Amino acid sequence: MSALELLAKGARNLEVSEPDPATALAMVHDLQMELCDILETIADLLPDRHDRMECAELAQALLPMVTKLHRFEEDVLFSCALRRASLAEPVSRAISRFRGEHMEDEFRLEELSELLRELGRERQPANPEAAGYLLRSVFEAIRRHCVYEREYLSNLLDDC
Ligand SMILES: [Fe+2]
Repeated sequence: MSALELLAKGARNLEVSEPDPATALAMVHDLQMELCDILETIADLLPDRHDRMECAELAQALLPMVTKLHRFEEDVLFSCALRRASLAEPVSRAISRFRGEHMEDEFRLEELSELLRELGRERQPANPEAAGYLLRSVFEAIRRHCVYEREYLSNLLDDC
């Protein structure tokens, strides 16, 4: 089973198992961290040792998958945290920031999907340095976001 198939299986598992909010947060972040590991491996294998089939598959699946995870966080988990925190100002500020970071990530992922399409087609990208930079900027931003979001929300979600 490819890394991508494992990820898709994890995402389906999240839907069917209906975990409590704190567990769901951990599952959603684990999936994004695994995705980051896949992107890091691709970056490490540039300019010409990347798995072209995997890149082509990721080009299709990446944005829809992350967008779905973001919407789940926003619609289910952020709502829970906000209810729990009632009108606590710092919590709603932090959640607005997380929403903003989701949008930035999705914007970068659109660009990355283009690159992955190229990596699926070509033995070498036209600009390997720019390709490596884009891959790294995406997975580093997602990792940072997940670490902070998890730290911030996990206690709040414990009692949801
Ligand atoms: Fe998030």
